[in-house]
Amino acid sequence: MRKVEDLFEKIHRLKKERNAIILAHYYQDPDIQDIADYIGDSLGLSQQAKKANADVIVFAGVHFMAETAKILNPTKTVLLPDLEAGCSLADSCPADQFEKFVKSHPDHVVVSYINCTSEVKALSDYICTSSNAVSIVNSIPKEKKIIFAPDKNLGRYVMKETGREMLLWDGSCVVHETFSEKKLIQLMMDHPKAEVIAHPECEEIVLKKANYIGSTTALLNYAVKSKNNEFIVVTEAGILHQMKKAAPEKVFIPSPPNANCACNECPYMRRNTLEKIAISLETLEPKIEVSPKIQEKALIPIQRMLELS
Ligand code: 13P
Ligand code: SF4
Repeated sequence: MRKVEDLFEKIHRLKKERNAIILAHYYQDPDIQDIADYIGDSLGLSQQAKKANADVIVFAGVHFMAETAKILNPTKTVLLPDLEAGCSLADSCPADQFEKFVKSHPDHVVVSYINCTSEVKALSDYICTSSNAVSIVNSIPKEKKIIFAPDKNLGRYVMKETGREMLLWDGSCVVHETFSEKKLIQLMMDHPKAEVIAHPECEEIVLKKANYIGSTTALLNYAVKSKNNEFIVVTEAGILHQMKKAAPEKVFIPSPPNANCACNECPYMRRNTLEKIAISLETLEPKIEVSPKIQEKALIPIQRMLELS
């Protein structure tokens, strides 16, 4: 394997040659975060993708994120270094089944979490992310019935925050669902001064223990601004890299999953590597393609979200 410095140099050179930018999610390996032009949560990444002027967008994230970038900026070449970088939430909501479900509830407004395929987006009225789900649902008139898909945990959290009843699709995130409540309680006992900060994709039983709940960017900002010095972080462990960089004097403890690991990593996000980024810049593959029909339909609910954010 090449040295990390060699790969950084190669990627910088290729980025210039290709007029490319790298957008990375916080759940990427630290070295990918270090080479990215922008690191953010799903909303921030969508906003950056929309305004990108470069010819090529390398998406260091998962498939639905790269697809969203292509929908928002269809004339650009959008590359996903590993096409197998999927998402259990997107997989839990096949478009054909979702279409039947939506058609059987014609009086419902459809709000879909951005973690879904472009075909599911095309069947939706609004897209939301974890940072704006509550405000998007609050913007829908009270008398309207709502379908929320595909994350039942985020959906339940939004119901609690808004006081709205919603029809929830039965999907979940493999990463956030496997946090161990038992190990979290043990950590809280070992670190009584630590604040628990959690992502709303976690199960209710875990969220009940949290002092603060938010998207990855919201968790990062909260941890940096808080007067507290110690945090138990209940989301994918990649976010700790930016937390430690932004507040090196503070202590960040990753919450462990049920398995015998100290922290929880998304197997899809972690498929991307520096080597694959270099190869995709060199070959301009794998490209993300979205059919014009789906692009046109899926853009509408994404634009609605961006206007409300
Ligand atoms: P956010 O970064 O938008 O909070 O989303 C987390 C996530 O699970 C992305 O797949
Ligand atoms: Fe999907 Fe969960 Fe991985 Fe995010 S962390 S990409 S929701 S599987």
